[in-house]
Amino acid sequence: MCGIVAYLGDKEAQPLLLEGLRRLEYRGYDSSGIAVLNGKGLEITKRVGRIDQLERALNSHPLHGSLGISHTRWATHGKATDINAHPHTDASGKLAIVHNGIIENYGVLKKKLQDKGLQFRTETDTEVLAYLIGFHFDALDVETGNRLEMAVMEALREVTGTYGLVAVHQDQPDVMVGARRGSPLVLGIGQHEHFLASDTAAIAAHTQTVAHLRDFDVVTVDRQGYRLKSLTHNKAGLEISQINYDAGEADLGDFPHYMLKEIFEQTLSIQNAVRGRLNLEECTAQLGGLNLTPQELREIDRIVITGCGTALHAGLVGEYIIESLAHVPVEIDWASEFRLRNSPLDRRTLVLAISQSGETEDTLGALREAKRKGHRVLGICNNVASTLARETDGGVYMYAGPEISVAATKSFTSQVVIFVLLGLLLGRMRFLSASQGREMIAAIEALPDQITSILKQSDHIRRIAEKYRDIDSMLFFGRQMQYGIALEGALKMKEITYIHAEGHPTAELKHGIIALVDEKTPSVFLCPKDGAYDKNVNNMQQVKARKGSVIAVATEGDEDILQHADDVFYIPEAPEYTAPILSVIPLQLFAYHMAVILGRDVDKPRNLAKSVTVP
Ligand code: AGP
Ligand code: GLU
Repeated sequence: MCGIVAYLGDKEAQPLLLEGLRRLEYRGYDSSGIAVLNGKGLEITKRVGRIDQLERALNSHPLHGSLGISHTRWATHGKATDINAHPHTDASGKLAIVHNGIIENYGVLKKKLQDKGLQFRTETDTEVLAYLIGFHFDALDVETGNRLEMAVMEALREVTGTYGLVAVHQDQPDVMVGARRGSPLVLGIGQHEHFLASDTAAIAAHTQTVAHLRDFDVVTVDRQGYRLKSLTHNKAGLEISQINYDAGEADLGDFPHYMLKEIFEQTLSIQNAVRGRLNLEECTAQLGGLNLTPQELREIDRIVITGCGTALHAGLVGEYIIESLAHVPVEIDWASEFRLRNSPLDRRTLVLAISQSGETEDTLGALREAKRKGHRVLGICNNVASTLARETDGGVYMYAGPEISVAATKSFTSQVVIFVLLGLLLGRMRFLSASQGREMIAAIEALPDQITSILKQSDHIRRIAEKYRDIDSMLFFGRQMQYGIALEGALKMKEITYIHAEGHPTAELKHGIIALVDEKTPSVFLCPKDGAYDKNVNNMQQVKARKGSVIAVATEGDEDILQHADDVFYIPEAPEYTAPILSVIPLQLFAYHMAVILGRDVDKPRNLAKSVTVP
């Protein structure tokens, strides 16, 4: 699930591994560890908590050697403790592995190994895999040069579940073996050195030449180079590519947190998502990456949007946008649900998978389920080197730049603006006139300046957050295109402040939620000047009548709202399809400031991982 960095070369491994782990920190983790092989054998240090803790331990006892593996763990099986952290060794203590993912049949395998007399030290699924590989290693002919590779392959044939893993063994001190199924693993090829990592960010400072392993690939790296095997009959070699990585892009600069930096980057990320995609002459959008002919685009009669968390909230806004602009029925579904249910799709249904990282396991599961049934799946994705980008039939990149903070911000607004572009493109092929298209383009082009004006209110929003710092619970309400923003505002708040927060369609207030309203539970109403304005004001009154405080997100110039709301965040006037891109920004800032005021770890909130690569 979390991070892997491994190194074999002519330099000291420890500093490179630690640096790599730090670059993966943003993915969220609860413990970390490192193993290095040298003349003395295998040496391992692991610690629960932050990488600082691991580094402190390593400072007092450095591990020397030029072959090492390391890991940041996001516990799935077994608590976050020193002993459960990776690397895990086999029964002999000579083999070590780091592993991302879940070994689903670990219970059966553990029992089998216990029946052979082996005793386990941890509750993790990964330790079972280490024991299993060690068991096969010990059973193989001592003379075999590629013993570790064979042992890994034999073990993986018995495994069900997901893995990105790297194994080393002290009897083969110049070899590391990596394998992938479901959890990303990339080989970095440098001068006299190789890396294996779960994310190119970990190694990009050292090499830009990489090859992404595919599911069932097994790669063996030694001092001469690397060789590839497959657990299936795939004979194709690895595709080597160059990554485009600007280390500066991922730096914090003058910002105290990545989340704030990324909120402020939205002026630019919106422009990147739109650049080259507006056709002023024909008053439409052009999205070449969709790989669909105009005829095929016209034939789409239903769209199913799938994703998780923030990406799905963008999809929910997208549903309203596309239905209203293009009159194409849209359905959204959590990827975790979609992948399991037997959703009837037909030839003209377009499946759209949305993901910032392109590595979310449930979203990939949904994508594969749709493809298995023969459907075309397009993606909206930020990470161009991701599994989703490779497995979809086409799509739209966000070009938002690296999003480091666990709480997604700029990827959300980029996803929504891409839905506006898609609505424009599909709408112009159906019902929208050229002048309506032109109006839409003007609204899209106005966004960067409008975002800048909202960002200027950051201090005002901080003062309001200060006022509400003692609350335990908060409600968020929005209708139509603002409903997804209510969900997203609540998600941001709970993710990084740990304050209980719920988002609902505004009118649902009366159907149960109002029971939660009291003087200690403020309600945030998304209430821009749109067709639902009067209804929203009525609902605010219902909250006020029950002593609840009201915070409104309203349109600049709307003075009347001050009679109904205790506090207001203003956004510039915008049509209903671009307004969600604006209204979410005060809520991102509100959650951010509240988290800072409460002393939370903003960029790495507890229990969360940036990209959830386990089911
Ligand atoms: C967002 O703040 C969350 N951390 C989370 O909901 C996230 O959006 C979700 O896990 C999906 O991630 P993806 O876009 O990388 O697929
Ligand atoms: N399932 C393994 C564990 O709980 C790996 C988790 C991870 O991907 O970090 O240790």
